[in-house]
Amino acid sequence: MRLVLVGPPGAGKGTQAAFIAQARSIPKISTGDIFRANVRQGTELGVKAKTFMDAGDLVPDEITIGMVRNRLAEDDAVKGFLLDGFPRNVPQAEVLGQMLDGMGTRLDVVLELVVDDDEVVRRLSGRRTCRACGHIWHLDFDPPSVEGLCDRCGGDLFQRDDDQAATVRHRLEVYADQTSPLVAYYAEKGILIGIDATGPVDNVTDRALDALRHYG
Ligand code: AP5
Ligand code: ZN
Repeated sequence: MRLVLVGPPGAGKGTQAAFIAQARSIPKISTGDIFRANVRQGTELGVKAKTFMDAGDLVPDEITIGMVRNRLAEDDAVKGFLLDGFPRNVPQAEVLGQMLDGMGTRLDVVLELVVDDDEVVRRLSGRRTCRACGHIWHLDFDPPSVEGLCDRCGGDLFQRDDDQAATVRHRLEVYADQTSPLVAYYAEKGILIGIDATGPVDNVTDRALDALRHYG
């Protein structure tokens, strides 16, 4: 299955991507995660991306597209993949279509996670991520049993730099201006499915897997 997850910051894309990728045995390709790993390692790509990420702006397409092109060329993506955070605007979607055409394939489905802005702000202000295994926690909705430590691996939890209130507001504007047009773009192609992404994480996962059950 070749799947794209779309939805505003904090909709639960990363949370659901981990479950869906595991359930459907496909690699999860998250552009945000790849950028953050590069920032941590201090690579040239990370240095270029950091200023944009910290401001809540999109990293320029020429940087992002090259990175995704390389990742999709890896062996594990041949049979299918889940893209989380890409494409992020219509030009990225068009290039993705061309890349897949060139590989003799195309997207099966785009799953939109629908939540409102107030819920997004609640989710992002309490988000904590494990530095070691990447698991995503929430201080109120899915708290670790010991503050600051990951229950899964004992790693330290951190708050993302772009989860400050002012940056979150800006990320929501960027989503509305640049990313939300993808919903109509993929609806027109007949491959968009929207699901209600509110309520407990498990319920959202059930809805997502149910929506995807007809896709190889
Ligand atoms: P990216 O990492 O993609 O961030 P985002 O789209 O803003 O999404 P988030 O990771 O903030 O949220 P999410 O939807 O994954 O939610 P999560 O599951 O964590 O991008 C970051 C930056 O990188 C961008 O701003 C940009 O600079 C750059 N970038 C990335 N891709 C790019 C591209 N293609 N082009 C250009 N630039 C790009 O959940 C959030 C919280 O809610 C967690 O605490 C979680 O535990 C909790 N939660 C999840 N589900 C539920 C639920 N059902 N109920 C209660 N709480 C829940
Ligand atoms: Zn962990």
